[in-house]
Formats: sequence, structure tokens, C-alpha cells
Amino acid sequence: MKKINIAIDGPASSGKSTVAKILANDYGFIYTDTGAMYRSVTLMAIKAGVAFTDEDALVQLIHENAISFKQTDQGQLVFINDNNVTEDIRQPEVTNNVSEVSAHEAVRRELVKKQQEIAKASGVVMDGRDIGTAVLPNAEVKIFLVASVVERAERRYKENQSKGIMTDFQTLKEEIEHRDLLDSTRKISPLKKAADAELLDTTGMTIQQVVTSIKEIVEKKL
Ligand code: C5P
Repeated sequence: MKKINIAIDGPASSGKSTVAKILANDYGFIYTDTGAMYRSVTLMAIKAGVAFTDEDALVQLIHENAISFKQTDQGQLVFINDNNVTEDIRQPEVTNNVSEVSAHEAVRRELVKKQQEIAKASGVVMDGRDIGTAVLPNAEVKIFLVASVVERAERRYKENQSKGIMTDFQTLKEEIEHRDLLDSTRKISPLKKAADAELLDTTGMTIQQVVTSIKEIVEKKL
């Protein structure tokens, strides 16, 4: 099968990673969760006591620590050096501070470099906020997923419950709205649909319906 790059962007909890994982698995492509990379830097900062405002120190953390992904039977795991941080990077303390960390130009420059390196050989499904606009502007397929904030909060609420993370629904909804606002109004590579991306509103759609819609677009490029 021809190898292409698929960029999937959208706001928080719009279903990007669920759909991206299925597509990567079905096409035998590599799945790259770029949000996990920004979350990992945020976790490093918390552990090292580095302020989220300290751009130079955040870049230093990226240089001193290796973020990696490992494919296993339980799905994709995220590591900082030898530590499995897959669950730690989903904790509220990380989620509520990651937008401040990801707004720094130098932090983005470092992580975008790594993301472009991963996608160089093609055959990658990458999800994030700026994949279609900044990381992979030449991706063969670009999708921008949206869904109502209530539905996105419901999805995240159920996901958190299944992982044993206790959160109040209203708080979760406000946190999602706040994170979207920060991500879409930051100066560098804000969350934005690329001009040539396909907009897909997944409100009321099942995961399978979303996957089928994207596959119709992908298969024209294969
Ligand atoms: O996708 P996820 O919700 O895990 O992303 C966490 C955060 O990482 C986002 O809210 C955003 O601040 C940042 N991010 C980004 N650019 C990306 C992916 C994520 O700024 N490509």
C-alpha cells in the first residue's frame, strides 16, 4: 500500500486520538500523538519544579530527557526516558497546565522538529492542533474534527471514569472550553483548520461512522 501522511487536528476531546489509532492500525501506519509530547514536557516541568512560564528551562528539559512511544499489546505507551508515563500525563494537573507550556515558541520548535522527523518516511497518522497548518503542511490528507462541547465533555467524563479519574462534569466542560480558548488564541501555531483540511463535525456520530467518513477521503489518495 502507498504510504501517505494523515494529519488530524481539532479541539480537546474531539475524538482525534481514538480515530487516528484505528486508521493507523487499519492501514499499518505509525500513530503519533503529539499532544502526549506536550503533556510529557508539562509532566517533566511539574516533577522538576520548573515554572510553566520559564521557556528556557522547559527547552532544557526537552534536551535532557527523551520522550518516546512504544507499541504494545495494550496499545501505545508513552515514556520519558525509561519511565512509563502513559497514565501520569492524563492527570488533571498536567491537562490543566499543558496549554501554557505548549504556547512557548521554543518548546513548539523543539517538538515540531521531532514530529517532522517521525513523519519523514511517510505512513504516519499524526494528531494534534497544528499538524495540518505547521507540522505537516504537505500531508496528503488533512482532517479537522469538531464536536459540540457538551458531547466532548461527556466523552471525556466517561473516559476518565473508566480510568478511575474522578471529575465533575461541569468542571470538565469548563476546563475543555478554557483549554480550547488558550490553544486557539495563542500566537504561535494556534488551533486552526488548515485551508485545505476537511471539516468533520462528529457530534452524534459513532466512532465507526467517523472512521468510515475519513477512510472515504483517505482512499482517494492511496
Ligand atoms: O491532544 P491533547 O488534548 O492530549 O493535547 C494536549 C495539549 O497539548 C493541547 O491542549 C495543546 O495545548 C497542546 N498541543 C499543541 N499542539 C499539538 C498537540 C497538542 O499545542 N500539535
